[in-house]
Amino acid sequence: MIYLSPSILSADLLQLKEQVLKVEASGADFIHIDVMDGHFVPNLTFGANMVKALKSIVKIPLDVHLMIEKPELSLHQYAQAGADIITVHQEACVHLHRTLQTIRSLGVKAGVSLNPATPVSTLEDVLDELDLILIMTVNPGFGGQKFIQSALQKIQYARKLIQNSPHEILLEVDGGITPETASQVVAAGANVLVAGNAVFAQPDMAQAIQNLRNAV
Ligand code: DX5
Ligand code: ZN
Repeated sequence: MIYLSPSILSADLLQLKEQVLKVEASGADFIHIDVMDGHFVPNLTFGANMVKALKSIVKIPLDVHLMIEKPELSLHQYAQAGADIITVHQEACVHLHRTLQTIRSLGVKAGVSLNPATPVSTLEDVLDELDLILIMTVNPGFGGQKFIQSALQKIQYARKLIQNSPHEILLEVDGGITPETASQVVAAGANVLVAGNAVFAQPDMAQAIQNLRNAV
């Protein structure tokens, strides 16, 4: 099973409700919400109020990607707003183990994201505490960037680690996903594909989702 998680970063914010309902009706599995704080990444986007607003209109799970410093200070806000998955960045967490335990204690699936320069091996000692590994396939901060090919080896390595885990761990990729790169990341072992431009920037979003599905 390959899950698609369209990222609203590339949506037309003036038509967000229609666009999100459209991707849900077109078979998206999750809605990916990119939270950026202007510090961990140079861009500033949405907060927990966006999660809450989207929760009131969609039925599919909300996949919240926190590109923020000190995420441990606001986990409860995102959980309360209705996040189903909360992914923090390894690079932003001094006490990653405790942060993952906190996310799970809030009844939310716990994810960890790795920037392109961060090795997968940094997660070996927290595998029991996480439900999702997110390999960034671009440097986080912006939509529409070019896929970084060296990430494919990281996906393969993460898949190996996951195979030895006694519980289910999703393997997500984010950045530069197109029908072409989608087939590469799935071959490498990914099973959740985030797509911003490849869905929301396309004239026919239903067809764009179908194109990604056909590619994998
Ligand atoms: C980038 C974000 C991504 C972004 C992907 O920092 O984490 O979720 O929306 O956009 P595309 O798919 O256009 O590269
Ligand atoms: Zn993201």
